[in-house]
Amino acid sequence: MEPLRYGFVGAGTIMNFHAERLSQRGDVVLAAVADVAEATLNRAADRFDIPGRYTDYRTMIEKEDLNVLVVCVPNAYHAEATLAGLRAGCHVLCEKPPALNAAQAEEMAAAAAQRNLRLMYGLNMRFMGEVETARRYLESGRFGNVYHGTVQMWRRRGIPGLGSWFTTKAVSGGGALIDVGVHILDLTHYLMGQPKPVAVSAVTHARFGINPETYNYLSMWGTPVPGGPFDVDDLAAAFIRFENGASLVIQVSWAANTSDGSEIRVLGDKGGAEISLGGGVRILTEDNGFISDITPQYRPQDAYAAQHAHFIECIRDPEKPLRTCGRQGVVLQHMLDAIYRSAATGAETRIEIAD
Ligand SMILES: NC(=O)c1ccc[n+]([C@@H]2O[C@H](COP(=O)([O-])OP(=O)(O)OC[C@H]3O[C@@H](n4cnc5c(N)ncnc54)[C@H](O)[C@@H]3O)[C@@H](O)[C@H]2O)c1
Repeated sequence: MEPLRYGFVGAGTIMNFHAERLSQRGDVVLAAVADVAEATLNRAADRFDIPGRYTDYRTMIEKEDLNVLVVCVPNAYHAEATLAGLRAGCHVLCEKPPALNAAQAEEMAAAAAQRNLRLMYGLNMRFMGEVETARRYLESGRFGNVYHGTVQMWRRRGIPGLGSWFTTKAVSGGGALIDVGVHILDLTHYLMGQPKPVAVSAVTHARFGINPETYNYLSMWGTPVPGGPFDVDDLAAAFIRFENGASLVIQVSWAANTSDGSEIRVLGDKGGAEISLGGGVRILTEDNGFISDITPQYRPQDAYAAQHAHFIECIRDPEKPLRTCGRQGVVLQHMLDAIYRSAATGAETRIEIAD
C-alpha cells in the first residue's frame, strides 16, 4: 500500500505534536508544510525533514498532490483551510474547535460528505484511556439511561498566548470555552451518548486577561504579545438541555482563584462514571444487590498517536466509522455558539439542528 502524503497548514505548537507522532509511522510521508511565518515554517520543516515548504497553503495544496491535510492554524482559518483541502481531494484532520461558528462547521461537513472524504476534528481527548474505558461501559448499557452529566476543568493561571490570537475574539472565536471547554464539552456529550441539544443558559466572565499588566502566572502555552488584545472569556459556565430530557452542566476556566483540576461525571439510572482526566475512571453502580464501585484497569496511551492511527484506519477503510466526524463537529459547534449567545443576551437560547 502506498504511503499517505501528509501536508500541514500551520507549523506552530500543535503541528509539532502531530508531526512528532506521524514521523514515527512507516505508512505516511510528511510531504509539505505551510506557515505564514517563515522562521516557524523552517524550524518545523528542518526538525521533521519535510521537503515541501510554503508560505501560502493554497500553493502547497495545488503543488503537492497530498492525500491528507492536517489543519493546525488559528481557529478563524480552520474552515477556509479545511474547505481548500477537501476541494482538492484531501482527507482532513482539522484541529479543534471545528470552526468559528456552526454555519462554517455545516459547510465543512457538507463538503466532506459530498466528496466522500474523511473529515475528522482534533478532539484527541476522546482517545485517552479513561475516556475510551468509560465509553465502553456506556456502549455496553451499564449506565442504563444517561440523564445528566457534569464537567469542570479549572485552570488557576492558564491563559494561553495572552495578547496573541488566542485572546483575540475575531481570530479565536472566544476564550476558555472555545479553547479548552470544547474538549470537555465534547467528552461529556460523547460519554452521555451524544443526545441532541435543544437549549442553553450560560454566563461568561473575563476577570484576569483584561488586566495583562497584573496577570501573574507560572507558565503559558504559546507566546504572550505585550499590549495585544484580550476580548474573550476566561471563565464560562453553562447548563444545556437535550431533546431526550437529559442535562449537562459545564464549568471551565483559563484563570480563576481555585485549584487546577478536571472531572467528568456521567449519571445513568443503572450506573455512572467519574473520570479524572489523566487520572482514572471509576464506575459507580450496583452489583449483586450491593452498591459497588468498579475501577477498571486500562493501558495508558498517547491520545495524539491513537487519533492518527484511527484516522489512517478510517481513510484506508471507508466503511469504518470515524470517531469525531464532521457531523459531530456541527453539533458541538452549535453548543458552543449557543453558550456564547446565551451569555451575551443573558437569557436561555434555543438550538435548532436539522436532522
Ligand atoms: N488538540 C489540542 O489539544 C490542541 C492543543 C493546542 C492547540 N490546538 C489547536 O491548534 C490550532 C493551532 O494552535 P497552536 O497552539 O499550534 O497555535 P500557534 O500559534 O503555535 O500556531 C499557529 C501557526 O499558524 C500560523 N498561521 C496563522 N495563520 C496562518 C495562515 N493563514 N496560513 C498558514 N499559517 C498560518 C502561525 O504563523 C503559527 O505558526 C488552534 O486551532 C488550537 O485551538 C489544539
